[in-house]
Amino acid sequence: MKAIVTGGAGFIGSNLAKHLAGLGADVTVIDDFSAGDFKNLKNFSGSVIAQSICQLDWDKLEAVDVVFHQAALTDTTVSNQTQMMLVNVEGFKKVMAYCVKVKSSLVYASSAAVYGNENAPQREEGPLNPLNVYGYSKLVADQIAERSIKKSLIPIVGLRYFNVFGFGEQHKKNYASMIFQLSQQMRAGKRPRIFADGEQSRDHIYVKDVIDANVRAWESKRSGIVNVGTGVATTFNRVIEILSETLNLRLAADYFENPYSFYQNETRAETSLAWSLIGFSSRYSVEDGIRNYFASLYGIQTPTAARIK
Ligand SMILES: NC(=O)c1ccc[n+]([C@@H]2O[C@H](COP(=O)([O-])OP(=O)(O)OC[C@H]3O[C@@H](n4cnc5c(N)ncnc54)[C@H](O)[C@@H]3O)[C@@H](O)[C@H]2O)c1
Repeated sequence: MKAIVTGGAGFIGSNLAKHLAGLGADVTVIDDFSAGDFKNLKNFSGSVIAQSICQLDWDKLEAVDVVFHQAALTDTTVSNQTQMMLVNVEGFKKVMAYCVKVKSSLVYASSAAVYGNENAPQREEGPLNPLNVYGYSKLVADQIAERSIKKSLIPIVGLRYFNVFGFGEQHKKNYASMIFQLSQQMRAGKRPRIFADGEQSRDHIYVKDVIDANVRAWESKRSGIVNVGTGVATTFNRVIEILSETLNLRLAADYFENPYSFYQNETRAETSLAWSLIGFSSRYSVEDGIRNYFASLYGIQTPTAARIK
């Protein structure tokens, strides 16, 4: 199988590129390294094209079987609309045009940010109400994909990831997962800082499940846009409890006022469409994901981490 992974130096893209290469696929990563980290690719055996998806001459690329499109501006607090729309929408169009030309499948990363602060569980049909330009850029990409899906030219699956955490996100710093950021604070002996009153909740999904969703999306040869979440929302207070247990540290939450006007209070995916369309259902609870993650990130072995693959 020949595959392209755009954004392959990033968190999710690098996990995916290495997983596919490990299965014996011929994988090419395309990344401009604007946010990703070469360290994520140190043990990747495939090819690397270090260019922007916006400037690359796609006509010069050989045909592949599938493109996994992960490249995007992912800092959700970026307010430069021009920059965000250029990469996340115009870049997406170039990727899609290439897929249509070479007749490859397209699996691309959308986001739960398209839902904004709408009531949970968030369902694929909406309401869709993004709160920032990042969420809006993902919504426009989904609309472009939907129009193309109607023409049935190639199989296209959009995956609306919820809050992804796992190994390879360290370069994202203050827009890495809260699980990573809070664990770093606690390991430095600081009280974990969260917005008051800590009862806001997220559907935290482990990166290994996200990789599984991408592979299943490709294998299904179906088309559509589906949520990639666990269907379970966990409050930040509960995340701190799990971190305390896993890290064996007791540090009380340090609450502060939320400065953002755009903020989702609860994200929780409706998961039935992902199951019926591409056969995806998450395997990791947030507790199991954290234990598995911290075994590789911090070398913390718990009895549970040892039995989770
Ligand atoms: N991590 C999450 O929780 C989450 C949630 C929802 C959606 N997503 C989506 O998943 C995808 C992957 O996110 P991630 O968390 O791995 O982020 P990331 O920032 O680690 O990865 C994005 C990668 O895209 C690259 N990139 C940016 N602009 C580019 C361009 N013009 N040309 C080529 N490469 C470019 C970056 O260098 C980076 O390596 C993104 O599309 C993101 O919007 C992520």
